[in-house]
Amino acid sequence: MAHEDSQFVDNDALHNDSEDQSANPSGNRPFAVVVQKAMSRRTLLGGSLAMAATSGFLAPKAQMEALAQTFGGTGSLVGFTPVTVAEGAAGGLMPTLAKEYTYQSLIPWGTPIEPGATVEYAGDPVRRPTSEEAALQIGIGHDGMWFFPTGAFRTDNGVFNNPARQNEAGMLCINHEFGRTTHVLGKPLPENIEDVRVMQHVHGVSVVAIELDFFAGWKVVSSPNSRRIHVNSPMRFSGPVAGSKLLDNPAGNAPLGTVNNCGSGPTPWGTYLTCEENFNGYFGASSGFTPTEEQQRYGFTDNGFGYGWHLFDRRFDLSDADFVNERHRFGYIVEIDPNDASQTPVKRTAMGRFKHEAVAIAENTPGGRIAAYMGDDQRFDYCYKYVSDRGWQDAIAAGESPLDKGVLYVAKFNDNGTGEWLRLDMSVPALAARFSGMDELLVHTRIAADIVGATPMDRPEWTTIGKDGTVFWTLTNNSRRTTTNAANPQAPNQDGHIIRTKDADNHLGTTFTWDIYILASTTRNTEGVFTDPDAAYADPDGRLFIGTDGGQPDGLQDQLVVFDTTSANPSPRRLLVGVNGDEITGWTATPDRRFGFVNLQHPGNGDPSATNFPATPDGKTIPRDATLVISRIDRGVVGS
Ligand code: FEO
Ligand code: CA
Ligand code: CA
Ligand code: CA
Repeated sequence: MAHEDSQFVDNDALHNDSEDQSANPSGNRPFAVVVQKAMSRRTLLGGSLAMAATSGFLAPKAQMEALAQTFGGTGSLVGFTPVTVAEGAAGGLMPTLAKEYTYQSLIPWGTPIEPGATVEYAGDPVRRPTSEEAALQIGIGHDGMWFFPTGAFRTDNGVFNNPARQNEAGMLCINHEFGRTTHVLGKPLPENIEDVRVMQHVHGVSVVAIELDFFAGWKVVSSPNSRRIHVNSPMRFSGPVAGSKLLDNPAGNAPLGTVNNCGSGPTPWGTYLTCEENFNGYFGASSGFTPTEEQQRYGFTDNGFGYGWHLFDRRFDLSDADFVNERHRFGYIVEIDPNDASQTPVKRTAMGRFKHEAVAIAENTPGGRIAAYMGDDQRFDYCYKYVSDRGWQDAIAAGESPLDKGVLYVAKFNDNGTGEWLRLDMSVPALAARFSGMDELLVHTRIAADIVGATPMDRPEWTTIGKDGTVFWTLTNNSRRTTTNAANPQAPNQDGHIIRTKDADNHLGTTFTWDIYILASTTRNTEGVFTDPDAAYADPDGRLFIGTDGGQPDGLQDQLVVFDTTSANPSPRRLLVGVNGDEITGWTATPDRRFGFVNLQHPGNGDPSATNFPATPDGKTIPRDATLVISRIDRGVVGS
């Protein structure tokens, strides 16, 4: 299915696609209008803009020459032979990679990971995991991830520090964004609380120890710090919303769980940030429900996305007065220590409550303050930035988190290629007039952003920071259609685009410049065709990896394309094409970048007649989300 976030399609029970209806009634100017003007500006200024981009992005000459020598490349950063449209379109049951590359699949849904876990779910269509088993296994919906190499590898006996193995061993943190009920349970709706618990335990995050075995390739190994974090795991709140009555329920239940963990990002201090995206979809109402302004703005409805958890678990019932504020406990960025399984994950409320897609942190700022760039993935929602008050090292030395005290901003894009970061706090008179305090403002971040006049965007997905500080933002599409039809695009920006911003004052400023990096529609009818950019990762050399989420043209499945951003002309090269019905999500690599990790999410949308990946095709085995470890056959830098 095309051009919709695929968690909302292909299943009658989930057919209520909230992302097809704007949840933003604020009337701010649609980004499409700004884009059109900016593209005209670019056409007018084309030559000089291209020159500026080239001079700003050039890789060191020696490095490019070395790459060309080592890999026989063209001198370009991206020298592999792209998968052609014809080759990609001919696949579907198993992934298709560029001929210089090889892959293995790792940690498919159902892989036992926790210490003591032995039961594996290998895709049996009849015997499904129990809730107890699922809580000890890799979850489903593989998405954002990060590889934390060995070097601070804590064990029961102390810290195992072996930098020589940093490219061969480490902790992989990985998000489990979502699984459809039909995929996980083999039926459209849960029938009892045990069914709900299975669904809740396949969502969340895994922290799993992996190593490179000379003979067997990458494999899961035992570690006391491997763990599953799911919808019933203990959580802690920090920042301005912690302690607020807006998080209290009459039931007095402790905070539990993280859900719809989409993108992610690492921190400079070695932790993992997981982003809660479509949390609204797991709530429903068992009786009369009239949504408030805030509930409408966050997309809460009486049936959610059709998961039906509220029918058996009162926490997710919007009409249950004992759990009236449970919904305020989701929609945050959550910090996880990959090297301490005893750590309680922390919801960092200063970074706002919205449908967090991913987070990219700039650390090379004056004084070590950090800037975190974040998208809110909904049609007509916004781009955000959080800036810490203190340098991160000073804050941590003082026992504070740099993510607890800082300023949250939302972006306003001007037509002339400039932009402003608009403050979201009680110093803004219009916000002080609307909210009783910073806790209420942050819980209603979207409404605060509406009030200050942020620019509504075409579904901001991932952010990533290029080597010169340029921030790339994927805007996946904004078709405004009510049904999916990849072959008949009707609306503007059917295919999505990528913009880039550059902040004043090395990420600390309140102004920025911006331009369009590429409109995906301009790749139509070329060998580099791609649409619906979503996952994004800029490597230190100047490569930009983009994973897609949406029906791709010309018979292609979702794909991974790589750009050389040092080139004046953005030109995607196709490294990987996924399997039928899947989506390409996440990206991470070993420190030497000889191995890259990327996810195939919802292969076949769970249908064994579409693909049995990662099992060899047999028409029966339930396909399972999995991580692909990809490498050049000659062990060159991945993406080269
Ligand atoms: Fe989970 Fe916006 O993709
Ligand atoms: Ca998406
Ligand atoms: Ca998706
Ligand atoms: Ca995404």
